[in-house]
Amino acid sequence: MHAILAPEPGGPEALRITEVERPAPGPGEVLVRVVAAGVNRADILQREGHYPPPPGHPDIIGLEVSGVVAELGEGVTGWRPGQECLVLLAAGGYAEYVVAPAGQLVPPPPGVDLVEAAGLLEVAATVVSNMDLARLSAGDVLLVHGGAGGVGSFAIQYGKALGCTVLTTAGSAENLDYCRALGADHAIDYHGDWVATVMEVTDRHGADVILDIMGAQYLPLNVRALAVGGRQVTIGLQGGRKGELDLGALLRKRASIHATSLRFRPVAEKAAICERVTRSVWPMLAEGLIQPLHTQRVPFNEVRRAHELMAAPGHRGKIVLVVDEASGAGSTRRTE
Ligand SMILES: NC(=O)c1ccc[n+]([C@@H]2O[C@H](COP(=O)([O-])OP(=O)(O)OC[C@H]3O[C@@H](n4cnc5c(N)ncnc54)[C@H](OP(=O)(O)O)[C@@H]3O)[C@@H](O)[C@H]2O)c1
Repeated sequence: MHAILAPEPGGPEALRITEVERPAPGPGEVLVRVVAAGVNRADILQREGHYPPPPGHPDIIGLEVSGVVAELGEGVTGWRPGQECLVLLAAGGYAEYVVAPAGQLVPPPPGVDLVEAAGLLEVAATVVSNMDLARLSAGDVLLVHGGAGGVGSFAIQYGKALGCTVLTTAGSAENLDYCRALGADHAIDYHGDWVATVMEVTDRHGADVILDIMGAQYLPLNVRALAVGGRQVTIGLQGGRKGELDLGALLRKRASIHATSLRFRPVAEKAAICERVTRSVWPMLAEGLIQPLHTQRVPFNEVRRAHELMAAPGHRGKIVLVVDEASGAGSTRRTE
């Protein structure tokens, strides 16, 4: 089968379409024929050599796919060949076939085209697991950094669906408008003094929960923006990994900071998160509380362009690599 790797770290030119052996499902695993693969920021980090897959996983890039069940490993129940599914992966998604533990497969959300759905599971799983950790609930003020990106645009909608006031940051007028269209109550340009704006629009309350993707660069700023009793979850380190934390400021606010990674969680935890997505998040899509994300489709053999698009200013929502257009096109489930 064909798969995409970056044998030598580098820019988009490092990506190679390579002939590799098709994986076989072991006990408890499922082989899936891929229709489309979601592109994530982590894929760029892996291509650059900064984010290798966990031990035991292939060097093939890609954290999520949509596709069709092709073969069941020993002991798998609940799935049958021919069923459409989404798959959460630790690696291996940019390929014609993937193998994953059965618990990391979910049915696609009702009414969403199978190609577009390829970009939904990683963001849904990331957002719901981290917002559970932060105990996000109705009435909270949620600050989402990078609201126009894949994770951010899902998080804005999830926060609104829960009944929160949602504040978000973005870097251009177009992206700020996009965030408002997704439901953000306040979209704030991160080039300005966004902490001051957060405090102003919340009457000095601050953010009860911050979903952070900037790491070190925003550490002191986020602590200033947190409400008393606030909870920050850092999921990205786009602004560096080592910063200085004023524990006194955190202590006075009785606030907390977590940092998490979905990719490195054990199989059982991923399965529990997938079950939570199916049970609680897909119904929000079915009811129209969350809309499928703005999705740019790029053919599999134009993967370099997909990575360039993701790194370019103006990127919004998700990019998906279309492996098999024939299977995905027109495959749209309804909500019955
Ligand atoms: N830990 C986990 O489990 C996990 C899982 C999934 C994703 N992530 C992380 O989550 C982040 C988003 O991932 P993604 O796939 O959604 O990437 P993406 O679509 O490329 O989004 C990246 C976002 O970063 C924003 N950004 C850039 N500079 C910023 C700044 N100074 N302040 C605020 N926002 C800024 C961009 O906004 P503009 O375009 O408006 O400039 C863009 O919306 C990445 O860091 C990724 O590694 C972590």
